Amino acid sequence: MNAPLNGPVPVIAIDGPTASGKGTIAQRVATALGFHYLDSGALYRLTALAALRARVPADDAVRVASVAATLPVAFPDGRIELAGEDVGAAIRAESISEAASIVAAHPPVRDALLERQRAFRQPPGLVSDGRDMGSVVFPDAILKVFLTARAETRAERRYKQLMEKGLPASLPTILHDLRMRDARDSGRAVAPLQAGAPEAVLDSDDLTIEQVVATVLDRYSTAVRFQASGRSAGAGGSMLQD
Ligand code: CDP
Repeated sequence: MNAPLNGPVPVIAIDGPTASGKGTIAQRVATALGFHYLDSGALYRLTALAALRARVPADDAVRVASVAATLPVAFPDGRIELAGEDVGAAIRAESISEAASIVAAHPPVRDALLERQRAFRQPPGLVSDGRDMGSVVFPDAILKVFLTARAETRAERRYKQLMEKGLPASLPTILHDLRMRDARDSGRAVAPLQAGAPEAVLDSDDLTIEQVVATVLDRYSTAVRFQASGRSAGAGGSMLQD
């Protein structure tokens, strides 16, 4: 089973709060299915970095949106480039995480990035991760997953990640920042982080990465089978689109 035989290019939308493991899971699912992968958060991070470099304040919605609309990005061989420079590490800095969350709350910035995200939908399929993949960018996704975990678990994961990279980190600070970002991402007026249907929720607190990947692949197989049999969402689970 790879992709449905008919219909639009399938999208698996994986949304969730910060440090829930969306990126790792989405990439592995994409590799397993031979699908493309979109890290939508990277676009918000790139916008924040480009704005910072252009000395545009993160709270200036109109000017940040014009930065987003003209972002010179490229993703050659999985690298993340801004105007030809590899910024894969720079956009992961905690200061950029914070700025990305601020710029992402501006509606004109989100509009400016919408078509850029949709352009990633190419055969044979796409796995995308973010906050509004299932609600706004790909509302017709064949499968929507809301990947989450307790704030403490997520903070510990982010702490380990930073330590492994040899970056300075403090667990209480990470937990505090993560809660602030959760509140901003969930409370904003436009495209807030939301779980969607209860069936979409995948709680990763007590699961390994392999178990989460296997669960997503399993849900995808079910979704493809339902689609092939012409049944609607109500027949088997509301993670399916009707
Ligand atoms: O790694 P982490 O989950 O913290 O962040 P990310 O997925 O790289 O996204 C960075 C920021 O961009 C988040 O704090 C969100 O505010 C924002 N974002 C968004 O608003 N919509 C998306 N589809 C993806 C990210």
